Amino acid sequence: MDSQEPQENERTALVTGGIRGIGRGICELLKERGYNVVAGYGGDTAAAAKFSEETGIPAYQWDVSDFDACGKAVSDISAKHGKVTVLVNNAGITRDGTLKKMTYDNWMAVIQTNLTSVFNMSKACWEMMLQENFGRIVNISSVNGQAGQYGQVNYCAAKAGVIGMGKAMAQEGARYGITVNTVAPGYVATDMVAAVPENVLEKIVSTIPIGRLGDSQEIARAVWFLAREDSKFISGSTISINGGQHMY
Ligand code: CAA
Repeated sequence: MDSQEPQENERTALVTGGIRGIGRGICELLKERGYNVVAGYGGDTAAAAKFSEETGIPAYQWDVSDFDACGKAVSDISAKHGKVTVLVNNAGITRDGTLKKMTYDNWMAVIQTNLTSVFNMSKACWEMMLQENFGRIVNISSVNGQAGQYGQVNYCAAKAGVIGMGKAMAQEGARYGITVNTVAPGYVATDMVAAVPENVLEKIVSTIPIGRLGDSQEIARAVWFLAREDSKFISGSTISINGGQHMY
């Protein structure tokens, strides 16, 4: 590392959807590695309070699908915790159902929360990253955005979209020291995956060569790697972590 470069622990890292599941794993690992971590969450105030008590990580509530709310959250967080130069766009929801049954509202909810949120949050942090001549954006996609999944046209569209927009942002950020990368997890043991009907999930797990669900920490390790100061030559890439379920 150049002696002029700030150390990892001077960076403020913001993780959306950070109080549970993969987001929590990312928050915990980044904190352990010395980052000044802040978590965002959507609505469960009691769970957020418990999370902060257990981890010592502050949690802020706002709706990532709301453009103005994202701007305000980033401005409040940076005033209190320092400029956000590491952003992990992790927040996401599912509203599964076949195309035949999917409502317009369930299409829009997933597109807004899983895809538009990445625009909202990245835009809110971009100016700060430009000023610092440094930025690390890691977007959390999914194996289902790469391979498709029965019953998830909304989710697959959003998660594939995240990969494309990350590549465009990577090109725009390159000359300013901003890297943008994607991590595409497979099926990980989280509340989101636990909501898949048991018989369906059993079938899915049988297609994973490693033979089990992933663990949040196994995803977090890649996020930390991409967020590091010395990962500065990695941009526009996608790291797939899915137990071998989808290879291409
Ligand atoms: N391929 C082909 N056919 C399938 C299929 C598949 N993968 N899955 C189901 N079908 C068929 C069924 O066999 C059934 O056929 P029959 O009517 O001939 O018996 C028909 O489709 C209807 O299936 P369901 O009874 O499951 O239909 P449903 O309307 O009750 O439920 C569903 C549909 C909501 C999509 C349900 O199948 C489901 O929840 N699937 C899981 C979707 C999934 O994997 N979500 C991932 C959530 S976790 C996540 O997203 C995190 C991540 O990033 C990985």
